[in-house]
Amino acid sequence: MKIELIVNGVRKTLDVEPNELLINVLREKLGLTGTKYGCGIGECGACTVMVDSEPVLSCLTLAIEVNGKQITTIEGIAKDGQLDPVQEAFIEEGAIQCGYCTPGFIITAKTLLRENPNPTREEIIEYIKGNLCRCTGYVNIVKAIQKAAEKIRKEKL
Ligand code: FES
Ligand code: FES
Repeated sequence: MKIELIVNGVRKTLDVEPNELLINVLREKLGLTGTKYGCGIGECGACTVMVDSEPVLSCLTLAIEVNGKQITTIEGIAKDGQLDPVQEAFIEEGAIQCGYCTPGFIITAKTLLRENPNPTREEIIEYIKGNLCRCTGYVNIVKAIQKAAEKIRKEKL
């Protein structure tokens, strides 16, 4: 089947199988390997991408389901060579160890901060509960999201 996706702002026309998963299209057909394959069953959040402005698990989403939509992957987050405030905050707070979970966390954090620019610690913990990290213990990830929120609020002043 032919589908059309707008991936990181670029329109792509693709031939896909009816049962082809979005994660495989992104990674294998488009070479966007920043989106990670973890569990493959919707448990870990490593495969999270933004569809329009919602976080979506690309391991549970058929490519044909998102025909015509805007897809944002981690490769589309930095702009003009400048890291996004969420990416900067993850680096500054040491919220990355092996980095496997990081693209999923950053996409999830972006959607949280779009919906709620000033989340409490508890709201952050609740929102990221679908993303698993085996390395960091989450403390620095939560701090990074709080710091990113501050940065974005300051940018808007
Ligand atoms: S790979 Fe999709 S949720 Fe784990
Ligand atoms: S940094 Fe290794 S899984 Fe999160």
